[in-house]
Amino acid sequence: MAPKLTLHALQKMKAEGIPIAVLTCYDASFASLLEEAGVDILLVGDSLGMVIQGGHSTLGVSMEDMIYHTRCVSSASSRAFIVSDLPFGSYQENREKAFANAAKLMASGAHMVKIEGGFAMTDTTNFLSSRGIPVCAHIGLTPQSVHSLGGYRVQGRDEGNALRILEEARALQDAGASMIVLEAIPGELAGKITASLSIPTIGIGAGKNCSGQVLVLYDLLGIYPGKAARFVRNYMDGASSIQDAVRHYVEDVRRGAFPGPEHTF
Ligand code: KIV
Repeated sequence: MAPKLTLHALQKMKAEGIPIAVLTCYDASFASLLEEAGVDILLVGDSLGMVIQGGHSTLGVSMEDMIYHTRCVSSASSRAFIVSDLPFGSYQENREKAFANAAKLMASGAHMVKIEGGFAMTDTTNFLSSRGIPVCAHIGLTPQSVHSLGGYRVQGRDEGNALRILEEARALQDAGASMIVLEAIPGELAGKITASLSIPTIGIGAGKNCSGQVLVLYDLLGIYPGKAARFVRNYMDGASSIQDAVRHYVEDVRRGAFPGPEHTF
């Protein structure tokens, strides 16, 4: 089903400075709850490998998993824009394989696919976007590369790496990306990237100067075991219901109250 919130509408929100509220979502019940609470984008993230499947990383998630969860979310959604992750190993090999797998997610109800990586993904981004598949890039901390990165670490802290991330963002926009997730980078760098791009940036651990914010739903609900990352806020604290917590998050994103300095690197 076509979303009521189109890519065009999201681009307009960026142009008009209206922050975009994004949450991960993996099933039909939460899809309708999050939509009713005003969430703009439902991200069927491969974080489901950790919060749903109990894996230690996102690396074990399959195409079948992503197709299944994209269908679950799409079946209950009528307003939100749905972005689905291409899982590890489904797109890195070559652009033709990336297209074939992206097409499966689009056929399952996604309106856009997300792929992790910088310069190495410009060709694939161009191939998909020029063939009718909107692409959301994802740079900074890219969880599918956790073992190459040496853990879930903040990226772009030094000048050289910050410049590389900025240049990757520009190259991905030039290649045809329509949106870009910035994960775990200094707030100042995210602000610079957002100002230099025309496409929306969606931050997670990237400070408030992005076009929108995303959190993993279970982090927002405070039900993920273990120590929460610095950029997480548990919106169930003081909330009367899950709906109330999600509404509070959407309001905070809209008025620039989340993330605060305490959530920012
Ligand atoms: O899979 C996911 O949930 C994500 C977000 C962390 C941006 O990619």
